[in-house]
Amino acid sequence: MTPDALAALCTRAYRHMTPWTAAQFAATLARPHALLHATPHAFVLGLVIADEADILALAADPDRQRKGEASRALAAFHAEAQGRGATQVVLEVAARNAPARAFYDRHGYGRTGLRRGYYRLPDGTSDDALILGRALP
Ligand SMILES: CC(C)(COP(=O)(O)OP(=O)(O)OC[C@H]1O[C@@H](n2cnc3c(N)ncnc32)[C@H](O)[C@@H]1OP(=O)(O)O)[C@@H](O)C(=O)NCCC(=O)NCCS
Repeated sequence: MTPDALAALCTRAYRHMTPWTAAQFAATLARPHALLHATPHAFVLGLVIADEADILALAADPDRQRKGEASRALAAFHAEAQGRGATQVVLEVAARNAPARAFYDRHGYGRTGLRRGYYRLPDGTSDDALILGRALP
């Protein structure tokens, strides 16, 4: 997926969060440790640095959710991160983002920390960030 396609998907999917722009995707993809896995309607973007993978953005098209696409992208991300030497994956998720929390729970992620008021939402309110992680595999 191109930065423009990633940003378009992100804009459709990130209804309660500020979506990434094409420029933000391009800048992240240009980083030497970037790792992107995408299916036709979902993607996972992160960094793999030393023994840790960090998921920065993940989304599935709202019209194609609950069909396993994000899970396939995540499984591919896990496999390649492990191949690059990662032994654990970390990420942040908004406390009010119930679908994403259920998704990560299903994929073995557990809570390791909390950042209060971390997210500034488009409606002007804020939300806590839960720090989640899991080992590979
Ligand atoms: C989180 C997200 C990527 C999941 O995408 P998806 O394509 O639906 O995921 P999959 O089909 O691979 O997995 C579905 C599983 O995730 C969980 N899940 C996903 N959406 C859910 C929802 N609305 N309610 C409860 N569980 C949900 C369930 O375990 C579900 O399994 P089930 O359908 O058998 O119940 C998608 O909801 C999304 O794009 N959300 C907006 C962006 C976002 O919040 N990204 C995370 C930022 S940290």
